[in-house]
Amino acid sequence: MSEEQTDFRESGDSGSRSQSFAVVGSGPAAFYAVEALLGQSDFDCHVDIFDKRFAPFGLVRFGVAPDHPKIKSVTKRFTSLLKDERVRFFGNIEIGRDLSLERLREEYTAVILAVGAPGDFKLGVTGEDVPGVFSAREFVGWFNCDEENAALPVDLSTESVAIIGVGNVAMDVARILLRSPEELARTDIADHALDALKGSKVKQVHLIARRGPGQVACTLPELKELCGIEGVSTHLHVEDIRVGLSPEEQEKKDTKKILEFFEDIKQSQDSPSGDKALHFHFLSSPAEFLGSEKLESLKLHRNQLRIVDDWAKAEMIPDSEFSIPCGLAFRAIRYKGVPFGDLPFDEGRGVITNSQGAVEGCPGLYVAGWIKRGATGVIGTNKPDAKETVATLLSDIQAGKVPGASHSETAPSSIESLFDASCRARLLTKEDWFRIDEEEMRKGESDGRTRVRFVFPEEVLSFLGRT
Ligand SMILES: Cc1cc2nc3c(=O)[nH]c(=O)nc-3n(C[C@H](O)[C@H](O)[C@H](O)COP(=O)(O)OP(=O)(O)OC[C@H]3O[C@@H](n4cnc5c(N)ncnc54)[C@H](O)[C@@H]3O)c2cc1C
Ligand SMILES: NC(=O)c1ccc[n+]([C@@H]2O[C@H](COP(=O)([O-])OP(=O)(O)OC[C@H]3O[C@@H](n4cnc5c(N)ncnc54)[C@H](OP(=O)(O)O)[C@@H]3O)[C@@H](O)[C@H]2O)c1
Repeated sequence: MSEEQTDFRESGDSGSRSQSFAVVGSGPAAFYAVEALLGQSDFDCHVDIFDKRFAPFGLVRFGVAPDHPKIKSVTKRFTSLLKDERVRFFGNIEIGRDLSLERLREEYTAVILAVGAPGDFKLGVTGEDVPGVFSAREFVGWFNCDEENAALPVDLSTESVAIIGVGNVAMDVARILLRSPEELARTDIADHALDALKGSKVKQVHLIARRGPGQVACTLPELKELCGIEGVSTHLHVEDIRVGLSPEEQEKKDTKKILEFFEDIKQSQDSPSGDKALHFHFLSSPAEFLGSEKLESLKLHRNQLRIVDDWAKAEMIPDSEFSIPCGLAFRAIRYKGVPFGDLPFDEGRGVITNSQGAVEGCPGLYVAGWIKRGATGVIGTNKPDAKETVATLLSDIQAGKVPGASHSETAPSSIESLFDASCRARLLTKEDWFRIDEEEMRKGESDGRTRVRFVFPEEVLSFLGRT
């Protein structure tokens, strides 16, 4: 760790109110929270960011698809926050394992948890654990260089893959499976994934939508991009494209455009092009994943829609089962937040129970992003979300509800004393990250790629000369 990173707290003017905050996680919600903290004028402040991964940026690095490099340019904004002298970064440190949340709460005025949603919802159908059935989260981690999923046994020797759900994550998964490896080779996709995709036998991708074309969760640009991949023909399996929509809903701007798009697809689907195919099975839900040693097929049932409180609810049609052969299936039915220690947790929504960001019954503890509101929303959605959390925090400080705020002039113990020797040996600072970033970009430039990424912390430590 550099000297520069160890002594910031000594710099505070003991006569002025200076507060120090810990932010756990370094995804969009964390950085938007940091931005709001640095931008307030109530007091001087310092922020320490902790992340369990060696690299910052959360799902901007480990989620956003490799063929969408422009989206990742938001990291420039986050990097300028990281460069602020009031901010430190400690990577490779998992709060709750390497350092307890209790200790963090003792050391800082307040703590903001922006830990995202690192779990999965399940369908609750038979055979969900058959080898070859994965969550989209695991697959995304696999192709996006996430250490936790680098060894996922993705067998692309199958011709047919099923993806459950039609949100933007499902679009990403389908695109990576169908895009040509030559195009992917120019991106920062994981080398192990690129190698596997080069040998892929996948020809048919089946998207399983429990509702109709007018209720898809994905957005039009993502839909167009997927259906526009060269050599892939798109097929819609639905009779009525407008099913479940009132005349007023059909006229809503976004829905209208989606419906027009699907109408166009329907017109052209009888003259398929290319040797790969994308199938949209609307009004269909998984009933059972079949196979013993490995997945062989997916049994589905058909649904009808019933309007309940303005919501088109999918209901199973009895005796309507049909099957599609597939050797691989991905559940893309949303990521899910996981409990954090014994903090109050809403299991149904996968969120830490909170009121406008304040964790219930835990003064000085706050949440932001996906762990606060559930795994929905794009990068920008986390900005107002994090601003709301910081506004709650500031108003709690003013109201005297944050115990740590009153004794904040006392500098907390130095960062070294928070960790044991093994943590100190692998802890990475922002200066380390800037070197890693530069190296990844340098390798990318020499290989004609956007970036060549490190996958494992051990590789990173070795590059930094720390092993
Ligand atoms: C596959 C996928 C693709 C996406 N693509 C786009 C896109 O193209 N455009 C777009 O606008 N939005 C996209 N999104 C949505 C966007 O990524 C999210 O809105 C956003 O990342 C949520 O931010 P967050 O900070 O709450 O969580 P995250 O980004 O998940 O960040 C959480 C951070 O917390 C860290 N962490 C977790 N637990 C601990 C712990 N115990 N100790 C320390 N650190 C911890 C994690 O390592 C991670 O860095 C995508 C989402 C997914 C899933
Ligand atoms: N390019 C991008 O901008 C991009 C890329 C990736 C992700 N993101 C964002 O990240 C967020 C998360 O995306 P996401 O795709 O994970 O979630 P999502 O947008 O909420 O989509 C989830 C999909 O899963 C379906 N589903 C949920 N439970 C199901 C069940 N039990 N059985 C069958 N289907 C089920 C949903 O159908 P119902 O509608 O019927 O519930 C929906 O089609 C979104 O806000 C998304 O826009 C953005």
